[in-house]
Amino acid sequence: MGFQIIELQIENGIATITLNRPKALNALNLAMAAELGQAVHQVRDDPAVRVVVITGSGDKAFAAGADITEFKAMSPVDAWMFTQQLQRVYMGIERLPKPVIAAVNGYALGGGCELMMACDIVYASGSAKIGQPEVNLGIIPGAGGTQRLSRLIGKQRAKELVLTGDMIGAQEAWNLGLLNKVFPPDQLMSEVKKLAEKLASKGAVALKAAKEAIEEGYDIELERGVANEGKLFGLCFGTEDMREGVNAFLEKRPPQFKGK
Ligand code: CAA
Repeated sequence: MGFQIIELQIENGIATITLNRPKALNALNLAMAAELGQAVHQVRDDPAVRVVVITGSGDKAFAAGADITEFKAMSPVDAWMFTQQLQRVYMGIERLPKPVIAAVNGYALGGGCELMMACDIVYASGSAKIGQPEVNLGIIPGAGGTQRLSRLIGKQRAKELVLTGDMIGAQEAWNLGLLNKVFPPDQLMSEVKKLAEKLASKGAVALKAAKEAIEEGYDIELERGVANEGKLFGLCFGTEDMREGVNAFLEKRPPQFKGK
């Protein structure tokens, strides 16, 4: 499928989705949100894709949020529909049965920060700036910012960021637990590639089951979460990858997983 506003590149099992409006700091307009949704469907259904990377083009931004120029003409219902669209896309990323890495190469603000938080692992450049600045526009976050942020960093810290609208640097965001690792800007993409290759070398069914166990268990009581984990653990015992992993360990050789 051809895309106009994003790029989708698939190489060696790694799909890289690049938000590509660098002049507007990769702001998410309606068309970009639609294309991002299509790309997420495409990589979900493509068995050749084992890992997904999401990044922004240029050297300034991952995404500076929703496209504010489109807000002027939006009615309350339009705005509601827009956030529902973004929420569906971000939920689709969070529930994608494959690991998703955010490569945050600059501003991740508003809808950009919300996109980053829907990804599984976040690597960022030291020049990244993170925030939920919506209150400065007289609005509030609409694509999960009031929900995922408090789950990730706690209610009080989330309130400080959302209520002040302040941006924070990469180091502070890492301290808060919003970023997995921070790298010098010129090393970010090579480190993301290393991580993506490492994840692509694992058994795809085990990664899917592990992600599902964490996602499904996150908002439910511990007892149900561990019970679900146990069933997914059992399911792994039916895979070729499990035989291969155990045999490789016993034979003291690296495993060759097939995702089956
Ligand atoms: N929407 C539309 N255009 C945007 C944009 C956005 N979110 N962010 C930046 N741009 C555009 C600017 O208008 C500018 O365009 P022109 O060259 O045509 O004037 C271009 O990108 C470059 O931006 P700046 O000149 O402002 O660059 P800067 O380095 O001086 O500042 C910035 C960078 C601090 C990120 C600043 O652009 C900014 O504050 N942007 C808005 C961030 C924001 O408020 N995001 C939240 C949006 S609301 C939202 O996301 C709701 C939700 O939850 C879904």
